[in-house]
Amino acid sequence: MCGITGRIRSGNAVGDLMAGLENLEYRGYDSAGLAVKNGHGIDVLKREGEAAELRALVDQRQPSGPIGIGHTRWSTHGPPSDANAHPHTGSTDRVAVVHNGIIENYDTLREELKRRGREFTSDTDTEVVPHLVEEFLEDGAEPFDAFMSAVDRLEGSYALAMVVEDTDAIFATRNGSPLVVGLADDGYFLASDVPAFIEFTDQVIYLENEDVAVLRPDSHGIFDRSATAVDRPIDTIEWSSEDAEKSGYDHYMLKEIHEQPASLNQTIHGRFDPTDESITLDEFEPGDFSDISRVEFVACGTSYHAALYGCHLLGQRGIPAYAHRAGEYASNPMPVDDETLVIGVTQSGETADTLESLRRLEDTPARTLALTNVVGSTAARETDDVLYIRAGPEIGVAATKTFSSQVTALALLSERLHRDITGEPSERSSELLGSLSALPGQIGSILDSDPTAELIKKYQGMDAHFFIGRGIAHPVALEGALKFKEITYEHAEGFAAGQLKHGPLALVTPNTVVIAVFTGDHDEKTLNNVREVQARGAKVIAIAPEDAEEVRDTADDFVSIPSSTPELNGLLANVQLQLLSYHVANRLERSIDKPRNLAKSVTVE
Ligand code: AGP
Repeated sequence: MCGITGRIRSGNAVGDLMAGLENLEYRGYDSAGLAVKNGHGIDVLKREGEAAELRALVDQRQPSGPIGIGHTRWSTHGPPSDANAHPHTGSTDRVAVVHNGIIENYDTLREELKRRGREFTSDTDTEVVPHLVEEFLEDGAEPFDAFMSAVDRLEGSYALAMVVEDTDAIFATRNGSPLVVGLADDGYFLASDVPAFIEFTDQVIYLENEDVAVLRPDSHGIFDRSATAVDRPIDTIEWSSEDAEKSGYDHYMLKEIHEQPASLNQTIHGRFDPTDESITLDEFEPGDFSDISRVEFVACGTSYHAALYGCHLLGQRGIPAYAHRAGEYASNPMPVDDETLVIGVTQSGETADTLESLRRLEDTPARTLALTNVVGSTAARETDDVLYIRAGPEIGVAATKTFSSQVTALALLSERLHRDITGEPSERSSELLGSLSALPGQIGSILDSDPTAELIKKYQGMDAHFFIGRGIAHPVALEGALKFKEITYEHAEGFAAGQLKHGPLALVTPNTVVIAVFTGDHDEKTLNNVREVQARGAKVIAIAPEDAEEVRDTADDFVSIPSSTPELNGLLANVQLQLLSYHVANRLERSIDKPRNLAKSVTVE
C-alpha cells in the first residue's frame, strides 16, 4: 500500500509523475503529492483525495523541473489530509521524502528530534526521515551519507525515495516494501510497481532489501548499507502498457473479469497435454516433490480463498493440506518438518502478512513456494521455489482473474504433487486435464450471457446477503461474499452451508437473500440448507451447473454455469459471482476499482 514514483530524465517531470501516480492508485488513494526540483529549490504539492485532486493543483501551480518524486497514500499514521500527504519535508524545503510502509520507532525518533528543536507538521511516521536527513546535512554530510545515516536509524518496513535541493539525484532504499528502478534511454524511473512507468521502459531492476539506489541524470548506482556497490540483474517486463489500461471498459474490474479466458490460457499454456496427460511445470524437475507429505498454505483475502480451494484439490488426491490466514500464522506458526511444503499464495507477492509468515519458516526444514502473479516480487525472491500464475497485470483492487489463475495453477500443482509422491496420475487426472482445456471457453460463454446484470434488479434493498456452499463451493461462497462486501459496501457473509443451523440461521429474515453455490458434489445436502432458509422467508439465488434440475426447481432464481468437473465448477460459479457483485456495485455507483478504505497491495501487518 502507498505508491511511490520517481523520475530523472530530460523534460518536465510532472507529467510522468502524475501518470505514474494515476497508474499506482490501486495501492492507495487517500492523498497524493509530488516534489519537483525546479532548478533553485523543491516545489512540493500535495492534496488529500485521489490523484485527480492533485492534478487540479498541479494545473493551477504549473511546477516544472526534470527530477521529481511522487506518492499516493493509504493512511496508516494519521488520517487522510493535506498535511499528512507525502512528500514530507523537514524544517526547510531542502529535503523531500516519500515513504511506503511503517517506521516502527518513529515515536522515539520524533521525541528525540523535537527535543533538538525540530518542529513537526504532520501525524505521520514518515516525517522523521526528512528531519533526520536535514540534521545530517547541517552537520556537513553529503546527501548520500546523510540519507544512509538517516536510514540507519529506522526500524520497520519501508520503501523511501528522496530528493535534495542542491543535488541532481534521487536517493532510494527499501526494506520490506517493494521498489523497482526503470531504465529508459534518457534517464531513470523509480516506483513501487512497474505500471507506474511501463509506457516508458520495460527494462527494470528490482531492488533487494537494504539496497540503496542513487539515480543521476546519466548514471545509476546500487549500494548495500555499507555503501559498497552491488550488481543487480536487469529484467525485461513481458507485458505492455496496453495490458494495464481499461481498453474501453468502464472499470478495470470488468475488464479483468472479461480477460479471464485469455488469462487462463496464459496460466495453462504449455503446462499440460490432455492427450498424453503430461504435466510440465518448467519451474520443477519431475519427482521434485517426492519427499513432500503435506502442504500448508499461508495467504490473505482472496488468495486465502484460493488456498482453501487448493486444500480441497490436494485432499481429493490424498495429500493432507491446510490453509492458514497469514495474519494469524505470522504470529502463531505451526510445527513443520522437511516433508512440509508451505505455499504462500499472493497475487502481488508483497502482502506483508504473507511475507512475514514465509519468513517465519526461514530457519525450519520446511520447503517454501510462492504462488504469485508478479515476477520479481518479494515473495518470489524470498522463497525456495516460485510458480507464476501468469494472469497479467491486475489493477482493480478487487482480485478477479488472479483468483481464477491461482486456482487453476493449484489444480495443476496438486496433480503434479500426487504424481511425484505416488509415482502415478491421480484417478481424477484425465477428467481434470480434459476439463481444464475447456475452461477458458466455458468462462467465455458465461461472460457472453451475463444473466446477473438483469437478475439483481429483483433484489434491491435487501438487508443481508449470505453466500453458502459445501466442499469446493465453500471457498467460492467465501470469495463471493468478500467480493460483494468489498465493492458494494452492502452487508454480506460467506458460510459453509452446513454451518447455518449452528448460529447464522438466527439472522435469516424475508429480507435476506441467500446465494447458494453448487458444484455437483454434495448438492443434496446444500439443497436441504436452501430449504431451511426458504422456510424462514429468505429468497435463494442458486449458482449451479446447467443440468442441476432439482436445484433449478428449488431455488427462487437459478443462474446456470456450463457443466465441467465438480473440481472446476467452483471456478465457473465464481465468475458468475464476480459479475453479480460488479453489477450490484455498478448500480449503487460505488467506486468499483478503488473501494473505500482499501488498497490492492497490503504491505503493512
Ligand atoms: C481481494 O479482492 C482483496 N483485494 C484482498 O483480499 C487481497 O486478495 C489480499 O489483500 C491478498 O493480496 P495478495 O494476493 O496480493 O497477497
